[in-house]
Amino acid sequence: MIVVIDFGSQYTQLIARRIRELKVYSEIISCSDDFSALKDKNVEGIILSGGPGSVYDVPTDNYRRILSFGLPTLGICYGMQLAAQILGGKVHRSKTQEYGLAYLTRRKNILFTDVPRHSRVWMSHGDTVVRVPPGARVIGATETTPIAAFHAGHFYGLQFHPEVRHTEYGQQIIDNYLFKICRARKTWSMHRLVDEEVTHIRETVGRDRAICAISGGIDSTVAATIAARAMGKNLIGVFVDNGVLRMNEREEVMENLRTIINLRVVDARARFLSKLRNVRDAEKKRKIIGHEFIRIFEAEARRASNVKYLVQGTLYPDVIESGRGIGPADVIKSHHNVGGLPKKMRLKIIEPLRMLFKDEVRVIAKYLKLPRSFIERKPFPGPGLAVRIVGAVNPLRLRMLRQADRILLEEAHQLEDYQDIWQIFTVLLPLGSVGVMGDKRTYDSVCAIRAVYSDDGMTADWVRLPHAFLNRVARRIVNEVKGINRVVFDITSKPPATIEWE
Ligand code: XMP
Repeated sequence: MIVVIDFGSQYTQLIARRIRELKVYSEIISCSDDFSALKDKNVEGIILSGGPGSVYDVPTDNYRRILSFGLPTLGICYGMQLAAQILGGKVHRSKTQEYGLAYLTRRKNILFTDVPRHSRVWMSHGDTVVRVPPGARVIGATETTPIAAFHAGHFYGLQFHPEVRHTEYGQQIIDNYLFKICRARKTWSMHRLVDEEVTHIRETVGRDRAICAISGGIDSTVAATIAARAMGKNLIGVFVDNGVLRMNEREEVMENLRTIINLRVVDARARFLSKLRNVRDAEKKRKIIGHEFIRIFEAEARRASNVKYLVQGTLYPDVIESGRGIGPADVIKSHHNVGGLPKKMRLKIIEPLRMLFKDEVRVIAKYLKLPRSFIERKPFPGPGLAVRIVGAVNPLRLRMLRQADRILLEEAHQLEDYQDIWQIFTVLLPLGSVGVMGDKRTYDSVCAIRAVYSDDGMTADWVRLPHAFLNRVARRIVNEVKGINRVVFDITSKPPATIEWE
């Protein structure tokens, strides 16, 4: 296996995921662990992730040990700076960040086998290595970073991120590291992951029972299917109507899931809407929703005997953006099912997909033979329309957003590349705008259209929707939805924006 040491990068799981794609088993440990795992004879290599910190913020002495194992080690971004400093090089603390695409010129090195002399790489760093350690060799440079890669004995360092898709030959570099440098073996597969999770759940739960939070989306359905394999009838599926679902969503979910899992439905619309009344802050909304969900699941658990666990379909992007990854990452937004959970909970959480990305879950869904309607379903956030109504949520604004969203989706189904779009939805803005309708002045709400392509929700590009389509949707929304008199189109990617507005 390859051990990835997490220093808090937003991309650590992407590293693990690229390794999985190459069928090699990997484990992530935190930089605050004691590194005894590295003595395991199965460790074939170590990767040091990036991170938000600087080598000047935290003493680096603790990490000296990592390099003493003599294992092939790849340092990425902060990981490279850390090793440079430990091995006797020099890191310059810069005030400005380098962020985005750069052109790498590489020198000949085993790590760059089959990588052209010039290629595009993705940079995201503040500090820079300005002098390599004694005996090290610079093996790559960009226009602004003369030391973009170096090699010193069993250590290889990259200032750019090979794990990010924008790095043209990133996967080739990881492939070279795994198979040419570490001589790793291809023993990992999605089937193995499912088997391991089934065993893990069985061992954890024993004869107790679990509630499974079902939203109707692919994540919770896959999590439920895996848990059901482990627990059979001891798993109880619960679907909560939280009042912030899309039009007809409850009925559609019930219909879709009828043959897959036995469901209890809880109508909690009034309860959620009363808790959300006058709440404008997005982080507060997520926390309220996370809390209410848990309280409802706990109440459902009390209705049956021996229910001690809650199974959730949490994915990795929810975990990392909530700042609950393995290492010390920043909080981007507290996803309702991770950062939004109450501190004290009666039920223990089981999350079989916690380390995976959406497209990996789709692969598992195919393996589990779930219907295509699930595999192709677009992601919908747990806090639902509450985070798509910027500002206060109330029945009137919910009605407007539901109608606008329904119109957009009806039209979107006609788009040629509908299947390739990751998400397409409307957002209601906390703005009034002047309009003129039938010779009368109006002062109504503004709605935004958002559509993005993405592989995994971590990065996203906005969809260049055809003008004729935008025109049709905007006209329909303004004509058919009472209370909206203006439609705008969001043309921002992630980063710097996020996919949802809140
Ligand atoms: P962002 O907005 O962070 O979204 O770029 C990335 C993906 O996550 C979904 N999302 C959420 N899902 N609870 C969820 O279950 C949440 O609180 C949440 N916030 C965002 C979003 O729809 C996108 O697919």
